[in-house]
Amino acid sequence: MPFDATILPLDEAILPSLTTAAVDAASCAYAPYSKFQVGAALLFEDGTIVSGANVENASFGLSCCAERNALFRAISARGPHWGVRAVAIFHAGPEACPPCGACLQVMSEFVALEGCIVYYSQGERFLRATFDELMPVRFGPGSL
Ligand code: THU
Repeated sequence: MPFDATILPLDEAILPSLTTAAVDAASCAYAPYSKFQVGAALLFEDGTIVSGANVENASFGLSCCAERNALFRAISARGPHWGVRAVAIFHAGPEACPPCGACLQVMSEFVALEGCIVYYSQGERFLRATFDELMPVRFGPGSL
């Protein structure tokens, strides 16, 4: 998966691994209803990368996105001790594939306090946004 180095100022050394993990995860998706396979890879503060894919169900509303599956997989295996520093999301289509609002909400509770970056595919490249740009105002633990 080629990407434009000019838009990747952060985590440059790890980015090929992160984007490759997202691409690989997409091939494991179970998406027979939407035919829209997504892979997500999370980079944690300890340098670990954990990936996930979307898993759909005949009861459509029970389907779960790649980002949330990756996050729940990571926390289930390792606990909630590390914040997310970067996220890569991949779908093999021409349109941009940023995270949905539900995934932003769920991930927001676990993002590293500063500088979490989201890389999302658009065709053959990854676009870059900060988590703050995608979700400037958040409902979180402090809202309760
Ligand atoms: N999907 C994701 O996995 N991540 C997103 O951020 C947006 C949508 C999945 C859900 C569903 O299985 C398929 O893509 C079509 O919406």
